[in-house]
Amino acid sequence: MAISKVGVVGCGLMGGGIAQVVAQAGYATTVVEADQALLDRGLGGIRRSLDGLVDKGRLAPDERDRVRGRLAGTVRLDDLAEVDLVIEAITENPVIKKETFARLDRICPAHALLASNTSSCTITELATATKRPAQVLGLHFFNPAPVMKLVEVIRTILTGDPAFKTAWGFVQSLGKTPVAVQDTTGFVVNRLLVPYLLEAIRLLESGVASKEDIDQAMKLGCGYPMGPFTLLDLVGLDTTLYVAEVMFQEFREARFAPPPLLRRMVLAGHLGKKSGKGFYDHSPR
Ligand code: 3HC
Repeated sequence: MAISKVGVVGCGLMGGGIAQVVAQAGYATTVVEADQALLDRGLGGIRRSLDGLVDKGRLAPDERDRVRGRLAGTVRLDDLAEVDLVIEAITENPVIKKETFARLDRICPAHALLASNTSSCTITELATATKRPAQVLGLHFFNPAPVMKLVEVIRTILTGDPAFKTAWGFVQSLGKTPVAVQDTTGFVVNRLLVPYLLEAIRLLESGVASKEDIDQAMKLGCGYPMGPFTLLDLVGLDTTLYVAEVMFQEFREARFAPPPLLRRMVLAGHLGKKSGKGFYDHSPR
């Protein structure tokens, strides 16, 4: 199936990055947000990101203008009545996601694929909210979406081969590398990454080393681009806590249990870069 029109639902950190990537790859892209203020903020973020690429000489100004021309914003889900693919990137709430999938199923054309960028919800559950489970799958991007090369393509036991092949080709057309993953909580990356991040917090809690030294150890000792505390601040402590809780509920294994410090930091509003403070200070200087 040929994809030419794409809808992205949610224009936050991930949705905005995904919409930018999709529009840059040449697709007519419609972004949906819950209200005008959120939409303006999301589209503003994409514009700034594109301008940054122009400033660095990575994108020609006329190409930037063409990308912007391919991006439309709306607050009405009904405006996705002609898309070939939807990528949902709204809040990690399974109830709201299921409602959104049921609505998308009613709005979108019969041939359209419905994908979720969820990091914690079960794709099978989203598929059963629709009458087209064979066309529902996961497309899990990584933060920052314009930079990170991987997309996990998640299939459920209900996903059809044609939908999977179309989604795989679509990911490649974005200049990203797909990996095939079965619908299991955490998929591949978070199944490995979350216990690592939680263990770093436990190391800090037990006084083994400072956060700066733990970060330095993993950067220089393992060649990771950033240490676990810098990464926790990037991903968001609230997101990490939520994903860990879902994984703990699913597997009941201690390695997924959120450490007390993580819970307290989230309670205190120390969410990482997005709130200006996490393990490190990100307030504007
Ligand atoms: N948006 C767009 N571009 C960005 C960006 C952002 N948020 N952050 C950095 N970049 C760009 C920079 O502009 C720079 O571009 P340039 O090469 O054209 O100048 C390039 O990325 C490299 O950035 P920097 O030089 O500032 O810094 P680094 O070399 O350290 O790279 C990084 C930044 C790409 C974020 C790198 O540190 C990295 O790969 N970190 C690990 C990120 C990671 O693990 N992400 C996965 C998180 S888990 C997840 O998302 C799953 C979810 O379900 C929880």
